[in-house]
Amino acid sequence: MRVDVVTIFPGYFDVLELSLLGKARDRGLLDVRVHDLRDAAHDRHRTVDDTPTGGGAGMVMKPEPWGETLDGILADEGADPDPLLIFPSPAGEVFTQSMARELAGERQLVFGCGRYEGIDQRVFDAFAERGRVRLVSLGDYILNGGEVAALAMIEAIGRLLPGVVGNPESLVEESHEEDGLLEYPSYTKPAVWRGREVPPVLLSGNHAAIAAWRREQSIERTRRVRPDLLPPGA
Ligand code: ADE
Repeated sequence: MRVDVVTIFPGYFDVLELSLLGKARDRGLLDVRVHDLRDAAHDRHRTVDDTPTGGGAGMVMKPEPWGETLDGILADEGADPDPLLIFPSPAGEVFTQSMARELAGERQLVFGCGRYEGIDQRVFDAFAERGRVRLVSLGDYILNGGEVAALAMIEAIGRLLPGVVGNPESLVEESHEEDGLLEYPSYTKPAVWRGREVPPVLLSGNHAAIAAWRREQSIERTRRVRPDLLPPGA
């Protein structure tokens, strides 16, 4: 998968060189390209924002640098003919595990990271006329810009790409996968730590009993902290 990111803070994305996604990039599974929006701001101060038309607080990102940068990405030789443009925004649809799964099937994602009070609406309108555009929110809270949201989405999507996570089974048992319940608690050695024992069933070697215990724990935990995730009638 190819991922392009447009930002005024390219350094934010240095973390994508680390850990699993860093390895995925080294192995050619994930091709990340970060573009500095200010490279398309041609005045002396490389200005990317201006006051809101009609008045109000804060600043709005100007359309011209966005237009030039996105045009360049779409015209790039290696670009997909139908990439998906994603603008992280608290005004967008909420990002979920099922959206991550859906987006992991795309060939090219382009993340446009806005700052300030957002991006001039005409940028969304113009690119939605030419292709696919989605506004996506990480949740009902306000970040300072789209960078952290884009990073979270790239990680959630990237780890679902074939070959990125060594043991694909570990993807299945996680919270929000399969049955939509929260994950059961995990334990490792030692069997007793600071006087606390591992639940004895996990040491029993009885796989059916272990599976039943884990399922019960998942349901109980989901009921306690995320009752909205329980299937109807559960
Ligand atoms: N930008 C600012 N807040 C955001 C949020 N909650 N999700 C996505 N992008 C954002």
